[in-house]
Amino acid sequence: MTETELYRVYKGVYMPANVYTPQSLKYYEEFSFRPDDIIIATYPKSGTTWMQEIVPLIMSGGDPASVETLPNWRRVPWLEVDNTCKLHLEQRPSPRMLSTHFQYTMMPPSFSEVKPKVIYVMRNPKDVFTSSFHYYGMTSFLVNPGPQSEFLHKFLDGKVTFGSWFDHVKSWLNAEDKDRIMYISYEEMIMDLKDSVARIAQFLEKPLDPEVMEKIADRCLFKNMKQNKMSNYSTVSREFMDQTKSEFLRKGIAGDWKNQLTVAEAAYFDAVYKDKMKDVKFKFVWD
Ligand code: A3P
Repeated sequence: MTETELYRVYKGVYMPANVYTPQSLKYYEEFSFRPDDIIIATYPKSGTTWMQEIVPLIMSGGDPASVETLPNWRRVPWLEVDNTCKLHLEQRPSPRMLSTHFQYTMMPPSFSEVKPKVIYVMRNPKDVFTSSFHYYGMTSFLVNPGPQSEFLHKFLDGKVTFGSWFDHVKSWLNAEDKDRIMYISYEEMIMDLKDSVARIAQFLEKPLDPEVMEKIADRCLFKNMKQNKMSNYSTVSREFMDQTKSEFLRKGIAGDWKNQLTVAEAAYFDAVYKDKMKDVKFKFVWD
């Protein structure tokens, strides 16, 4: 199907129309945050599912019950997704854990008033591109990526779901109230997951014993998370996600773009990156 058939444009960005319905977007716009809500914000394919495993384990003091019995989208639901409305978020006890793929500038009014904590996960955009290319090829609610060179232009022009990676990252880096936002990269988590878990726990003001943090980090290793049916999307029907084409938990490494992009594509990517990120001072920890 074409973009026009599959997507709607919301605040200037493409979104799969059947997942992000007018009702769910209205619900999102009117959502009332609580000060102790915990929001995981990401550009898609940056490590959302990973953080949806880490944060509940930290908040439960290492008790794996929720990650073993609830799919990640029920544990840490997306605010903007259609089924969120049916999850009775208003009745959930605090602290609630919520996810969003929206840019900072698209957050609803209550978000700036109440100022809940946010964990913003970033990833090397060349790896986000690589992961997205495979993901778009296996889902029925996203437009087939077509040839890689074509998808590369779409990605760099922000003509993909949730818009431009550059706008997304810049919007969150330019947030007004940065002290309630933790910025962490996928690559930092790859390099030292135990340290990342410790830093996240500290940010969430949830003191944990070192052994508990070690156990959490171990559970969240790619090879272990891949076995968790509540996190590997194996419960989603093949009609929506055909994991025989590409698994959701695909490779789980930093730097896979080197196996995906040609030398010319990587050079073009770098040139666009340099231009679009020229005013950004933040020091990213990429591969
Ligand atoms: P790859 O396709 O490169 O393997 P999101 O959850 O935001 O959609 O991101 C999905 C990406 O995060 C996929 O990347 C997936 O494999 C990776 N990922 C998920 N859990 C991970 C983990 N425990 N360790 C490393 N990577 C993980």
